[in-house]
Amino acid sequence: MKPASALFCDQVQPQVLGIHPYIPGKPVSELQRELGLESITKLASNENPLGASPNVITAIQNELVDIARYPDGSAYALKQQLAEFLNIADTQLAIGNGSNEVLELVSRVFAGPGDEIIYSQYAFAVYPISAQVVGATGVEVPAVNWGHDLNAMLAAITTKTKLIYIANPNNPTGTFFTKEQWQHFIDAVPSHIIVVLDEAYLEYAQSFLDKALYFNGVDYVEKYKNLLVSRTFSKAYGLASLRIGYMVGNEETVQYLNQMREPFNVNHYAQVAAQNALQDQAFVEQVVQLNQAGMRQLVNVFDELDIAYISSIGNFICIDLGEKVLEYNQKLLEEGVIVRPIANYGMPQYLRISIGTQVENQYFIDALKKVLQAN
Ligand SMILES: Cc1ncc(COP(=O)(O)O)c(C=O)c1O
Repeated sequence: MKPASALFCDQVQPQVLGIHPYIPGKPVSELQRELGLESITKLASNENPLGASPNVITAIQNELVDIARYPDGSAYALKQQLAEFLNIADTQLAIGNGSNEVLELVSRVFAGPGDEIIYSQYAFAVYPISAQVVGATGVEVPAVNWGHDLNAMLAAITTKTKLIYIANPNNPTGTFFTKEQWQHFIDAVPSHIIVVLDEAYLEYAQSFLDKALYFNGVDYVEKYKNLLVSRTFSKAYGLASLRIGYMVGNEETVQYLNQMREPFNVNHYAQVAAQNALQDQAFVEQVVQLNQAGMRQLVNVFDELDIAYISSIGNFICIDLGEKVLEYNQKLLEEGVIVRPIANYGMPQYLRISIGTQVENQYFIDALKKVLQAN
């Protein structure tokens, strides 16, 4: 994308001009500025409606005296704790400034101009961006029923393929693939091609599905040396603003990621917060229970109103509002509700709604009914 005044265009690395930046959910403060609204419900960024564990808040407050010090660049304490939690070695972990950072680091380490990176249609926007950033060719494979078509992704592999990004469940569609489909896929990918399995919504997904259907990517890293699994503290753990996530993999591949990352990429408060969040699994349980109830609350209303939706096992759901979707979205904003239009994902008729508290969900439902009735 070329800016209006392009003085330095010729000096810019060619791939930079091809980057389509990530479009985030509208911040509450922006809507407040635009419409002067007092009360706003934001269900647009798959954030945690319960916030973070109270232990996290206390721990951060206790650490504020150290604000002038650099963080531990190796995130030693957090890695020890995560290694124990996941039953892996600490050398199998790269910690990132959000899982976004480690996802992109993989393409910076393993791909460049002339290489191909495969991902699915409707997959998380960071995958194409990660290909664009390194000047690799993004290969988008058509989805099936809004989800990853793993067989088609296998068929898309060429001699140029360096990397495959897959999300389970996927954002924005909330779709998933089963343990059996995964097993077939990972067995069939040539062992020199890196597979990144993004499990940002794992905690929610596990709460929706039977163990026979769902799987945990970390269980496969021992056997499949080309597999990297990303996780985040932004969702079920409620630490989105602190930016912390991680990648699990083989010692060697993870070492390359650690070589490439910035020395102090994860701040001290994020590290402390993640350690304390990990210790409070009761909070995570409360979060996923609330999410299940919220999902039921919304789906019941969509059924009642005959609104088509894509079944989701995440903390969000996409609804089809037809051609007038942007008009409805604008009216929802005027009612103080921020949800996410996803035309940038090639889903121009859809809105993605993050699951909130019961009260937030009801606020959205009331606004939606009002907006639809006024039509
Ligand atoms: C599928 C998926 N992966 C990764 C991320 C990145 O999250 P973070 O960088 O906050 O860890 C998101 C965020 O929305 C996501 O939806």
